Amino acid sequence: MRILMVCLGNICRSPLAEGILQSKVNFKGTFIDSAGTSGFHEGELPNKRSIEVAFKNNIDIKQQRSRKFVVEDFENFDLIYTMDESNYNDVIKLSNKEVDKQKVKMILNESFPDQNLNVPDPYYGGDDGFKNVFNMLNDACTIIASKIDENAR
Ligand code: 4NP
Repeated sequence: MRILMVCLGNICRSPLAEGILQSKVNFKGTFIDSAGTSGFHEGELPNKRSIEVAFKNNIDIKQQRSRKFVVEDFENFDLIYTMDESNYNDVIKLSNKEVDKQKVKMILNESFPDQNLNVPDPYYGGDDGFKNVFNMLNDACTIIASKIDENAR
């Protein structure tokens, strides 16, 4: 199973989603990556506050580097989780096959089915925003990880 987490900058939310899911999945045949719909922060480390909130929860995301989402990602991944509606729409616009569109999901629909809730962008806010994002992603990733491990059995 190959899973891609997507946000706008690939420095705040999707690096956390990648690290959190990685920490929860036991099945070794799982590959998890993240990308941004923009290339604004290409090559950069995750935001300091994402690194900190992850580290407080025993997750190290410092080895990650920001990269832009590319159309080839539709071939390379089975599931693409977007953090908000704008990321979702941007990724869907790049898909030209129905099978690719089906791979794209709003991540919080795992924990709040059919509600299409957004993981709020914490970039311009305070530290509480990062903690809030961590907790939301933690709940969603618990569910994703249990599905992966269930299917791997
Ligand atoms: P992210 O947060 O999409 O969660 O990585 C953002 C990071 C950078 C910017 C916006 C959102 N930016 O405009 O540079």
